[in-house]
Amino acid sequence: MTDAADPHLTIVDHPLVQHKLSIARDKATSTYGFRQLLREISLLLGYEVLRDLPLSTRMIETPLEEMEAPTLAGKKLVLVSILRAGNGLLDGMLELAPSARVGFVGLYRDPKTLEAVQYYLKVPADLGERPVIAVDPMLATGNSSVAAIDRLKEAGAKDIRFACLLAAPEGVARMKEAHPDVRIFTAALDQRLNEKAYILPGLGDAGDRMFGTK
Ligand code: URA
Repeated sequence: MTDAADPHLTIVDHPLVQHKLSIARDKATSTYGFRQLLREISLLLGYEVLRDLPLSTRMIETPLEEMEAPTLAGKKLVLVSILRAGNGLLDGMLELAPSARVGFVGLYRDPKTLEAVQYYLKVPADLGERPVIAVDPMLATGNSSVAAIDRLKEAGAKDIRFACLLAAPEGVARMKEAHPDVRIFTAALDQRLNEKAYILPGLGDAGDRMFGTK
């Protein structure tokens, strides 16, 4: 699962994830089917992303006796969707962690400077006291994901994980260089980027496939 040579990168290679991902990659899969698959995969990804959440215990009574039962400790986690495609992973993760707080980061690329420009940011005020999971299906060049994580750190986030569906080696390298403290979770590490910065073999434009735009 975690690449032994790379503790920052976890590839969730569960057969169910791989099967669903293959259907999602297929260009014949409908918009509705694609969204459903993303929701299902994000539940399974989320299970791994949240594996090391801290636990405490509380006393409960089962029908037979009392026990110290494990429960999640600390403040509720924050899920941050990197707009717009991040929303495709958000729904499933919210099903898994229904009381999570939710934030949004919106960025676009300035066509002249190629810099990521923020157009929206809404996150809980006490970000620094909570685990933060940033979600974006495609870690391609890494530029927008790195910029989004810059913004989250500026807003106080300290414990950040990044979850995506597909990652390119270029994006993983960029993220590790800019944010070595951020663990990356992905369903697959693909081969490379093409000249338009699309991931190969990839699945195309995740936002378009999710929302039926082109
Ligand atoms: N964003 C996408 O939606 N797809 C890619 O392949 C790369 C970036």
